[in-house]
Amino acid sequence: MIPMTNKHIVLGVTGGIAAYKSAETVRRLRDAGAEVRVVMTRAATEFITPLTMQAVSGHPVHRQLVDTQAESGMDHIELARWADGVLVAPASANFIAKLAQGIADDLLSTLCLATEAPVAVAPSMNRQMWTSPATQSNLSTLQNNGIRLFGPASGAQACGETGPGRMLEAEELAALTAAMFETGELAGLRVLVTAGPTWEPIDPVRIITNRSSGKMGYAVATAAMEAGARVTLVTGPTALTPPERVDCIRVMTAQEMFDAVQQHITSAQIFVGAAAVADYRPAHAASGKIKRTADSLSLNLVRTPDILASVSALDPAPLVVGFAAETSDLELNATAKLRAKRADLIAANIVGQPGSGFEADENRLVLIDERGTLALPLLSKAAAARELIHHIAVLYHAKNSAENSRLAHRQ
Ligand code: C5P
Repeated sequence: MIPMTNKHIVLGVTGGIAAYKSAETVRRLRDAGAEVRVVMTRAATEFITPLTMQAVSGHPVHRQLVDTQAESGMDHIELARWADGVLVAPASANFIAKLAQGIADDLLSTLCLATEAPVAVAPSMNRQMWTSPATQSNLSTLQNNGIRLFGPASGAQACGETGPGRMLEAEELAALTAAMFETGELAGLRVLVTAGPTWEPIDPVRIITNRSSGKMGYAVATAAMEAGARVTLVTGPTALTPPERVDCIRVMTAQEMFDAVQQHITSAQIFVGAAAVADYRPAHAASGKIKRTADSLSLNLVRTPDILASVSALDPAPLVVGFAAETSDLELNATAKLRAKRADLIAANIVGQPGSGFEADENRLVLIDERGTLALPLLSKAAAARELIHHIAVLYHAKNSAENSRLAHRQ
């Protein structure tokens, strides 16, 4: 199973006897690294108590569409945005019917309509209800609408009958949920990602750095890994845990980042420079701590190597993706950067505004390449990274097939 480190999963529980297994499902999702919030329908609370679900998930259960007490602190739109994936398990025949029709009369059905995240249902019902034409046609509608179907299994049922309609076990549900994030778009490719700030020493205790948290670069590394790539992450100092299954190289200065990239770039087909590399460093780092004696102090700064431009200059060069953090004239500056750095794609975002950019958990990216501009909505950094990786995969495969047909013509 691929890990779901830091993935936000909403587990929807509807009214069916298999709801007794939902506590176990939460445990398995959390074991895989996911952060889980539980949404229960009214009927679900007849089968398993919200207290149990709160205890295993570590968060209050969300139950009402209009929560005047705001006991759980997030409304349906916030939850819909928070989610990287939604799993409804068990999904009753009634809930499946509602979802197929787009009925939004409670928190869970509304959330499923409102989210951009992938949604999966794990049906649980009596075999007769499962095979009924109404349920079967609702299920095809759901699948046509892009909703995934997990199970059901066949076997002994709570009603005493045997047949299809049994909900999958928690372990299987967790594995299938993790697999929702695997796209395979970059299967067989190697991706090198830089992330985080760099630290440029002034003396042994002081540095020049910037406000990059590394969250965007780490999210890009995770999304590339989920797309099937082998990922090397060259990271400056951050407070983040590197994603599992990603080769992580820790560096401090721009020069060290440059050296690490030079060392590993030749085997990569795609380079994503998400690091906020310091543009200047002190020409000489003092060997001892600079004392606070003089009234003023000047630092002589020199340019650091431009890692992105050096990768674009390679022959052959990988597909090169840069980031542009701008405080104004986003598209103009980013387009200039695309050309100046000879990058294939620039992911631009406005910084210096609350809620997006450095340190925030969300980002609004504008993707700019020679073909045009694509403005993504405000998304979690994980979702923005997945969109970016999808765009990169399309670009990479288009460039490669053009290259292949060019070579074929020359033969
Ligand atoms: O020129 P500017 O720093 O705004 O460009 C940002 C992009 O260039 C980012 O993708 C960043 O990772 C990359 N960069 C780099 N090496 C530098 C400076 C920026 O790779 N020294």
